[in-house]
Amino acid sequence: MVIGIIPVFLLSSTFLSLVSAYSFTISTPRQCQNLTVSITREDGQPPYRLLLFPFGPSPLPDNVEVRQIEDIPFGTGETMLSIPLRYSERSEFVAAVNDAAGFGTGGTSVVTTVLANDDGAGICFDPLTSVSPSFAFSANPPNQIVQCTPTRLWWDNTTVQGTPSFLGVIPGGESFVIPEGPITDVPSQGTGFSWTPPVRAGTTLVIVGGDDRGVGSGGSLVTIVSTGVRLDDDCLGDNSPSSTPGSPAGLPTSTGNA
Ligand SMILES: *[C@@H]1O[C@H](CO)[C@@H](O)[C@H](O)[C@H]1NC(C)=O
Ligand SMILES: *[C@@H]1O[C@H](CO)[C@@H](O)[C@H](O)[C@H]1NC(C)=O
Repeated sequence: MVIGIIPVFLLSSTFLSLVSAYSFTISTPRQCQNLTVSITREDGQPPYRLLLFPFGPSPLPDNVEVRQIEDIPFGTGETMLSIPLRYSERSEFVAAVNDAAGFGTGGTSVVTTVLANDDGAGICFDPLTSVSPSFAFSANPPNQIVQCTPTRLWWDNTTVQGTPSFLGVIPGGESFVIPEGPITDVPSQGTGFSWTPPVRAGTTLVIVGGDDRGVGSGGSLVTIVSTGVRLDDDCLGDNSPSSTPGSPAGLPTSTGNA
C-alpha cells in the first residue's frame, strides 16, 4: 500500500526536456516493508530497472553494513514495482530508475531516510554481519574528486570479472554512465582509466563500480566534488550535472555493498 508519496524528480524544466521522458515516485520507505515504485507519465521505454544505492554511514551498532546496491528489473509492461526494502531504519539511500534508453533516464531521488516499520515485521537482514563488495576500486588523487580535473579510477585486475564500469549518481540530480577512456596498467595504481569529472563543485556525487557480477559489485564511493586550487571550469557547460549542495562532508567514504 502506498502511504505517502515522495516526489523524487527535481530537475529544472530545461533539464526535463533534455534528459527525461518520464519520472517516478516511491512510497514511504520503511525497514523490511515493501517499497513501491511507480512510473509516472508513461512515455518511458520499458523494461524499467530500479536501482537503490545506500548513502551515508550505517546506523547499526558497530557500523555493521547490511545494505547492498539493488538492481531490480520490472517486467515489461509494468509501471509499478513492490519489493521488500532490506535496509535498516535511519539509514539513507538514493533511488534511480532506468528504462531501455539507459541509465538515469528517469531521474535520481534525493537522499531518503528509511523509517521504522509499522507492521511489526521485525528485521529481514542479519544486523551482525556486514556485506562487502566483490571487488574494490579507488580514485587517484585519493580522497577527492575535483571539478574538471582528471581523476584515475582504478582497481586490481585480478579481483574483477570482465571490465568494470562506473556510474555517477547525483542525489536529486542527474545520473550518468562514467565514460571510460583507454584502460591502462600503472604501477601502484593498478588497472584503470582517467576521467575528468564535468560536475560542478559542491555537488554530492556517488561513484558506483560494477563488473560482470552486476551493478554495484564494486561498491560505491561518496564525495562532494571540490573546486581544487585552479578553479578550472573549462569542462562545464549549461548541461553539466549538478545538484543542490549536499550536507557538509569530509573525505569520501566507502559504503560496503555487494
Ligand atoms: C511485497 O512484495 C513482494 C515481492 O514483490 C510481493 O510478493 C508481496 O505481495 C508484497 N507484499 C505486500 C504486502 O504488498
Ligand atoms: C586484466 O586481466 C585480464 C585477464 O586476467 C587480461 O586479459 C587483461 O589484459 C588485463 N587487463 C589489463 C589492462 O591489464
